Amino acid sequence: MSLDALPGFREFYPSELAERNFIIDTWREVARRYAFVEVDGPPLEPLELYTRKSGEEIVGQLYSFTDKGGREVALRPEMTPTLARMVSAKANALRKPIRWFSIPQLFRYERKQRGRLREHFQLNVDIFGEADVTADAELLATAIDMMRAFGLTSSDVRARVSDRRLLRGLLVLTGITDEMLPGVYAVVDKLDREPRASLEAKLRAGGLHDVFIGRVFEVLKHPDLDTLRDRYGDVPELREDFTRLARYFECLEALGVRDWVEFDLSIVRGLAYYTGIVFELFDAKRELRAICGGGRYDSLLKQLGGTDLPALGFGMGDVVLGELLRARGRMPVWSPAVDVWVAYADAGLLDDAMRIARRLRDRGRSVEFALGGQQLSRQLKAASAAGAREALVLQPEELERGDAVVRRLDTGDETRVRLDEWIGAH
Ligand code: HAM
Repeated sequence: MSLDALPGFREFYPSELAERNFIIDTWREVARRYAFVEVDGPPLEPLELYTRKSGEEIVGQLYSFTDKGGREVALRPEMTPTLARMVSAKANALRKPIRWFSIPQLFRYERKQRGRLREHFQLNVDIFGEADVTADAELLATAIDMMRAFGLTSSDVRARVSDRRLLRGLLVLTGITDEMLPGVYAVVDKLDREPRASLEAKLRAGGLHDVFIGRVFEVLKHPDLDTLRDRYGDVPELREDFTRLARYFECLEALGVRDWVEFDLSIVRGLAYYTGIVFELFDAKRELRAICGGGRYDSLLKQLGGTDLPALGFGMGDVVLGELLRARGRMPVWSPAVDVWVAYADAGLLDDAMRIARRLRDRGRSVEFALGGQQLSRQLKAASAAGAREALVLQPEELERGDAVVRRLDTGDETRVRLDEWIGAH
């Protein structure tokens, strides 16, 4: 039996963990600027939390099992249902709009492909209790500002937005019924990842007549908003949708992110619960899968048996983002960094080295010393390998006088110092 890590699961060596932390630190910083507060929930949940509303795709990827108490449980594949439950449980006590973010590790049994693993860390940013389109714009601005904080520009990353209400309205005009919509959405979501013939076959398998199939593709032929407005702007059922989208783009302009955003009717998102404006962020060259996706899900809280509150949010994973940052040279190169290495010329000074290390650590310095007695030359080599900037070298006679030598490890320059003063200055 192989004891290797399971496929799709990562082991984080120091440089890899440093990259993960860089991503997470940046997420936290931008979320703070947008006044979101951090929450978390359980990593293991009742299976039914996902089977009810997440949609077929994610349910097919669940890590689920029966626990020792006979409960059907699943490792969380996404955070949204947990957040919906948490908000519902305390809806009255929470100040609205509720602005939350969280950074869970999620688990999905995915098919092996670039940018998809079986675990990932996902930033979730969600707003609860605000129906106005301003909230949709604020949410997308947060996602885009995350990209800016990583040093990416609007030539590196593009946001594609649509509105499920508009798409539904257009499809209904062609005779598609609400019962047919989930199947149609699932196909639209795959539009740029699967050949048309296979998508048509899926629609046909879902019971859609060829006439309707033709109409679905006809509607999707007009992806830009101006063309759509010219053609359908006067249809009374669609007027509100066009007005809302126009306001959305005005808000994006005021929030300073309009340049990053394109309208694209084929964005519907794979998850079943979205009800309004939806969006995804992609690398501009379209070499990678989506970096981020989200939208409005106004009925999920109620459907999960909770309070009826409008909601919207997005998820941004660390995997595709990490690939993009490396490809664009935006991932900092990690190197170990010890502030001071305490070296001793003679093994009898090891306890003094420990006492000095203790004093420096109390002052917040990162300090290392050779744990086993070692020759001074080897200690200094180890100090360089540890990334220490300087070594404090202890010699018996000097130490007795309260002195030591500070050696700069990059240049080899040495200076004699009064030990107490030098520690005090650190
Ligand atoms: P999602 O589109 O399933 O949405 O995932 C959001 C992002 O998480 C993706 O764009 C991708 O970056 C990352 N991601 C998803 N699955 C994997 C995977 N197997 N490996 C690596 N990265 C992955 C949701 O999960 C929604 N719950 C987001 C949301 C929050 N909607 C509203 N609030």
